[in-house]
Amino acid sequence: MLPLLSQTPASWAQSVLADPVELLNDHAFLEKKAANNAMDLMTRWPGEWVAGWVETMTSVARDEAAHLAQVTRLLMRRGGKLSRVHKNPYANDLRMLVRRGEAGEIVDRLFVSALIEARSCERFSVLAEVAEPELAAFYKALHSSELGHYKVFLKLAKKIDPKCEARWETMLAREAEILAAQPPGPRIHSGC
Ligand SMILES: [Fe+2]
Ligand SMILES: [Fe+2]
Repeated sequence: MLPLLSQTPASWAQSVLADPVELLNDHAFLEKKAANNAMDLMTRWPGEWVAGWVETMTSVARDEAAHLAQVTRLLMRRGGKLSRVHKNPYANDLRMLVRRGEAGEIVDRLFVSALIEARSCERFSVLAEVAEPELAAFYKALHSSELGHYKVFLKLAKKIDPKCEARWETMLAREAEILAAQPPGPRIHSGC
């Protein structure tokens, strides 16, 4: 069960699927960012807190790179191509929550990663219900992979700071607010 504090209605999926090429373009950037994020976490905090840190992050990065390849293939087959510039205000706003330079920075970064994974999961299941068969199967397959990532990030955060429950609750609440404030449009993390 995902702990998210808001639920995406099916009407959101119907609306974003009106422009599947743009949705796939946005999605591709998301996977690229997720791969970069895992590599960044891997190099900035190499293993002194948690055993298996490097292995975990490289494994997530590998998954995300594979997802990126899959989305890009679907995008190209549908006549699209990756645009040069891309904005993700949802993820940017979430990153603003990270406490800089404090002991909580790594925990917050893991929380933000977990939140993005959890919300992506939620959105993929809503999309899978509405999309045509090829895309539905794709979203379903990604759902289980991103669910695994969500769990891994959350577990690592709790390992580093076993008393982080209150902070997690706060972050969950902020995530729902940030998502609700997003403009609508063919993006995985758009507003409804
Ligand atoms: Fe992914
Ligand atoms: Fe992921």
